Amino acid sequence: MAILVTGGAGFIGSHTCVELLQAGEEIVVFDNLCNSKITAIENVKKITGKDFPFYVADMLDRDAMEKIFTDHKIDEVIHFAGLKAVGESVQMPMEYYYNNIAGTLILTQTMRKFGCKRIVFSSSATVYGSPKTLPIKEDFPLSTTNPYGATKLMIEQILRDIYHSDKTWSVALLRYFNPTGAHESGLIGEDPNGIPNNLMPRLIKVALGQMPAATVYGSDYPTKDGTGVRDYIHVVDLAQGHLAAIKWVREHEECDAFNLGTGTGYSVLELIQALEIASERPMPITYMARREGDIAACYADPTKAKEVLGWEAKLSVGEMCRDAWNYAVKHQ
Ligand code: NAD
Ligand code: WQD
Repeated sequence: MAILVTGGAGFIGSHTCVELLQAGEEIVVFDNLCNSKITAIENVKKITGKDFPFYVADMLDRDAMEKIFTDHKIDEVIHFAGLKAVGESVQMPMEYYYNNIAGTLILTQTMRKFGCKRIVFSSSATVYGSPKTLPIKEDFPLSTTNPYGATKLMIEQILRDIYHSDKTWSVALLRYFNPTGAHESGLIGEDPNGIPNNLMPRLIKVALGQMPAATVYGSDYPTKDGTGVRDYIHVVDLAQGHLAAIKWVREHEECDAFNLGTGTGYSVLELIQALEIASERPMPITYMARREGDIAACYADPTKAKEVLGWEAKLSVGEMCRDAWNYAVKHQ
């Protein structure tokens, strides 16, 4: 009786493993470590004082997937494994489609073979494309502007179709907004390879003195201060959302989508200010043109997750900055 966590050495996966273990769940984890390090797994064990089976395995490797399901009785799957860089997906669409889509098909075929029909999937607010109004509700129209987003949209559709073919499956599609922060221990956090694309890891590099200035992409958006607005969510809150989703898939035979966000939008300048306070370091700013493909504002209506899953985000932007900074200074 265990939950299989795919991509469990990654940023959100490792934090979710901690929450699952602390809630007394049994877990089995695999990751091919293409965007993470084995130290994340060691540190999950350190934080929780608990051991669990970890496989260095690729979800594209059917034999490896079947071995995991043979070795363990898997009741639920939380599916984080995937490639996630929007810009890279435009450069390498075939790799993104193959890894994310073929990998999910092999995983779900293996689940079916072993009679495991409960899955919690890492989707993204990117599936809403450019929303016409805010806040975003789950029944808004779906669209995408890049191959990464297309993989999320397609996997959602694949999982819906699987459910329609066999209504004894249970599928939770979790649409994350902008995850950030780190575990308060400073042992696990976000560790992107190379030059990061996302705002918080880039601001951290500026605060550490590894980048000269915070680049603000666009100051003429129709927002409170002209800069882009997003719904930043603490990764520990997000991880706890997966516990609520696991409970839901255990109790329902349904397929449904849930926004995991705070419901509050913060601008780029507000995030810079919050990190300046957390790091006690002033941040030089360079204003740039808008980044291609960006939308002005994006934030969730998280009511459904609260009403149906009984989950809501609790941690503030100040706490996100404090914990991201704590992790960064320990790992620079
Ligand atoms: P991450 O890159 O830190 O974690 C993903 C993990 O999957 C990595 O450890 C990677 O090594 C592993 N992986 C990739 N392909 C694999 C394969 N074929 N076999 C086995 N392991 C494989 O990313 P994250 O931020 O933790 O994101 C987790 C999930 O959430 C992803 O599916 C991502 O698309 C989704 N998501 C992330 C964000 C975000 O901003 N971080 C937002 C919305 C959705
Ligand atoms: C946030 C805001 C930028 C960097 C991406 C993916 C999305 C999801 C989360 C996976 C925007 C601005 C950024 C910088 C800036 N991932 N910005 N200067 O674009 O909302 O979402 O990550 O599913 O799919 O698209 O996040 O952190 O890149 O940007 O001004 O140096 O910060 O314009 O307004 P985004 P982000």
